[in-house]
Amino acid sequence: MLIDTYGRVATDLRVSLTDRCNLRCTYCMPEEGLQWLAKPDLLTDDEIVRLIDVAVRTLGIEEVRFTGGEPLLRPGLVGIVERVAALTPRPRMSLTTNGIGLRRTATALKAAGLDRANVPLDTLRPDVFKTLTRRDRHQDVLAGLEAAREAGLTPVKVNAVLMPGLNDDEAPDLLAWAIDHDYELRFIEQMPLDAQHGWKRDGMVPAGDILASLRTRFTLTPEGEEKRGSAPAERWLVDGGPHVVGVIASVTRPFCAACARPRLTADGQVRTCLFAREETDLRAALRSGAPDEEIARLWRLAMWGKKAGAGLDDPSFVQPDRPMSAIGG
Ligand code: GTP
Ligand code: 5AD
Ligand code: SF4
Repeated sequence: MLIDTYGRVATDLRVSLTDRCNLRCTYCMPEEGLQWLAKPDLLTDDEIVRLIDVAVRTLGIEEVRFTGGEPLLRPGLVGIVERVAALTPRPRMSLTTNGIGLRRTATALKAAGLDRANVPLDTLRPDVFKTLTRRDRHQDVLAGLEAAREAGLTPVKVNAVLMPGLNDDEAPDLLAWAIDHDYELRFIEQMPLDAQHGWKRDGMVPAGDILASLRTRFTLTPEGEEKRGSAPAERWLVDGGPHVVGVIASVTRPFCAACARPRLTADGQVRTCLFAREETDLRAALRSGAPDEEIARLWRLAMWGKKAGAGLDDPSFVQPDRPMSAIGG
């Protein structure tokens, strides 16, 4: 079991497969991209499967989410999913992808054992998409989303980050569109995880404003805490249901007290929080020939050191050195 000193037990693991991406979202990285991890520093497919095996067999992990950067840029993704599906016990598997490659891969991923997919889409307007991601790929993302739904990677969740003056007028339109296409929409407050360190609290659209904007067109009723569990999203029934909308309010309504989700970076470091400044090096242990029990021990120890919260409100808060794309979203 992975448990911390506050009694939080981790059952979900996020695994980043690469720090590279084929978009350049302004809230994530600069136009020129970043200094990517070198190939020898990345965990190999075998190393990833081995760590997930240790996590599900001895640490109580029940769900694995593959992330990036952009995980579809990892050539071995379908093979990794297939091998993880063959583990005992078999974890549930999900993917957070920018969607561009899904038209090509959704069917193969489903056949390999992937259960569901989450895709960011911040705008319905192709020109705003291009400004925001610095790439003209809006149509590809829409096609990828359709492919995911048709392949049965459901529920397909769509994540939207709103930015003042750019797309903050789109919340009701995005929700109407998501309901129409049977996607579950969640709005995410922008977090201080951009590589440029340009995040400002007053440059972020807070959950309260998002909900007010949605309420100009929809009636929202809280779904209730008992259904939320340790999920980052708070959810509301839209016009009485069955459709729901979520808000991930990491900044204004932090949910650290229920969060136990460890992250494994593409270079084999365990982080117990998006905003953690400490990492535990499982790659070094793997490559020095450590047995499974030793890896499990290091992992438990990392979890035991998890802090109470991210401390975004703490005046001494310092943004982590790694940006979102190198942590795994
Ligand atoms: P499901 O609800 O299980 O589908 O997954 P998810 O919402 O955890 O996954 P997704 O990758 O779609 O993440 C959506 C957003 O939630 C991203 O911006 C994540 O960074 C954020 N998020 C996920 N887990 C945490 C967390 O533990 N802490 C914080 N602050 N944000 C998180
Ligand atoms: N703040 C909030 N969400 C972010 N994402 C990427 N960078 C940030 C940020 N700084 C989102 C993406 C995607 C998910 C993995 O994280 O839009 O939905
Ligand atoms: Fe790529 Fe995701 Fe960062 Fe956008 S937010 S640049 S899709 S890693």
